[in-house]
Amino acid sequence: MYDNLKSPGRNDECWCGSGRKYKKCHLDFDERLQSLYEQGFEVPQRSLLKTPEEIEGIKRSAAINIGVLDLVAERIGAGVSTEEIDKWIYDYTVEHGGIPADLDYEGYPKSVCTSINEVVCHGIPSPDDVLKDGDIVNVDCSTILDGYYSDSSRMFCIGEVSDEKRRLVEETKKALEAGLAAVKPWGLLGDVGAAVHEYAHAQGFSVVREFGGHGIGLEFHEDPFVSHVSEPGTGMVLAPGCCFTIEPMINMGSHDIDMTDPNGWTVRTADRKPSAQWEVQLVVTETGYELLSW
Ligand code: MF3
Ligand code: CO
Repeated sequence: MYDNLKSPGRNDECWCGSGRKYKKCHLDFDERLQSLYEQGFEVPQRSLLKTPEEIEGIKRSAAINIGVLDLVAERIGAGVSTEEIDKWIYDYTVEHGGIPADLDYEGYPKSVCTSINEVVCHGIPSPDDVLKDGDIVNVDCSTILDGYYSDSSRMFCIGEVSDEKRRLVEETKKALEAGLAAVKPWGLLGDVGAAVHEYAHAQGFSVVREFGGHGIGLEFHEDPFVSHVSEPGTGMVLAPGCCFTIEPMINMGSHDIDMTDPNGWTVRTADRKPSAQWEVQLVVTETGYELLSW
């Protein structure tokens, strides 16, 4: 089969855990994926496809992730330090039985990433970073609940923000929405990033190439890598059950980034012009997609 795993017999139980016979469950699905594989398309490993039970688990995790970002939306404003935001997120997540996925992830020291203005991603919360009028900030939050991962991020405009920064924030969200509109069951992942890039480029903005979205669910970062500058007609087949993020980082100036911060994490635009990012998590369904976290 397409992923080197053996298939059950027609009358055996399906591999997906539904308890149904293979012929009544994933047989047609597997034949379709196998045929695409034989035509040379990149197809997802079966282990990446989420079962209904796993999707329910991810949704419970995402309920915390969405709740915590809603809380940030209520409280954020000028005079708040990113350290305070980190504490809100840690406390809310733990009170709801979750674990902040960022904390200790590959040595990351905090529970959330807070990326202000020219910071592209992985800004580390600090008592020294106090939000002020005119800032734009991305709050990128990820949660583990019962082993299930959720991940989403939003932008916040603090006080009176310049027209050009507000436009960057709004158009970055629309670029993400253009990517979502390209998510089609049995379509190709490359079409998603191509749609993001085309939209952002038409607005006069550039798209960060080094970072992208990712598969997610049973681990924080699973295959595939979701480029936001991909070529149409390329990439993995979006079989129903694929769960991944779309999270474009869009720059006002050049797409070049600077990764030389001594903390080993914080990424800035090379030209120090502002950058914005929104992130959602979704699962591909038989008819389209369902948003899981936002
Ligand atoms: N939340 C980020 C993502 O969207 C990952 C942050 S990893 C951290 O994939 F260690 F920096 F927190
Ligand atoms: Co992510």
